[in-house]
Amino acid sequence: MNKRYLFVNNWKMNLSFNETIEFATNNYDRLVELATKTEQKIILCPSTESIYPLAQIFKETPISIGAQTVSRHTHGAFTGQVAPQSLQEIGCTHCIIGHSETKKEFTENDKCIAQKCVHLLDYDITPIICIGETEQENKSEKTLGVLESQLAPLLNALNTKTTVRPYLEPCIAYEPIWSIGTGNTPNIAHLDTIFTWLTEHIGKHAPNISWKLLYGGSINPESISLIKKISKIDGFLVGGAGLDFQKIEKIVK
Ligand code: 13P
Repeated sequence: MNKRYLFVNNWKMNLSFNETIEFATNNYDRLVELATKTEQKIILCPSTESIYPLAQIFKETPISIGAQTVSRHTHGAFTGQVAPQSLQEIGCTHCIIGHSETKKEFTENDKCIAQKCVHLLDYDITPIICIGETEQENKSEKTLGVLESQLAPLLNALNTKTTVRPYLEPCIAYEPIWSIGTGNTPNIAHLDTIFTWLTEHIGKHAPNISWKLLYGGSINPESISLIKKISKIDGFLVGGAGLDFQKIEKIVK
């Protein structure tokens, strides 16, 4: 039996509201058929304003809808923020947190990502937590240390939380910053080292949680087959290629 991967399409702010609806309606049949026939999990993450209509369009299909961010608070006077409860109510089942682009634009640190993760789990939303090093950190061989410190508040918060519902399976997405949007993907030896370490590290520090491990960064129809060789990878966080149905189809197949 084929492995059931997760394909998370992070559309970032590339499509307007109308363009998002157009993409979804134009590709509805093909996306549903692709997910059904291949039995792979496809998740579309549009901008916040498009989550509700997309969740309605893909209701009762195997396609899931995710968000690109969430507030670290649950309620209150937080202008411009989106609450996890609202995401749940509009049909969002997954949420990306800690993306390097979000970290750069907003003050989102590792402690705040841990808070977001806990709230998402409370509202029955699967968190997709991004971690990854810069090019400079990679070149100076600091990657594992960087990942360890990015994960520390998260593992600590989840370890003290006993109610992670098993079906939620939080995802950790390794997205080296130097690979995002550049066409450069890590070599197999690098990926093997990272995913072996991640499996051991989270197994040791949060042993009661069933995790999924994703890779993100320049995934395209050409790079995917090499990356799939790493058996510890459970799925992919796709940026640019996820805006083109033909590329999505090739990647999933
Ligand atoms: P690209 O696939 O365009 O490199 O983007 C990756 C990414 O940032 C997904 O979250």
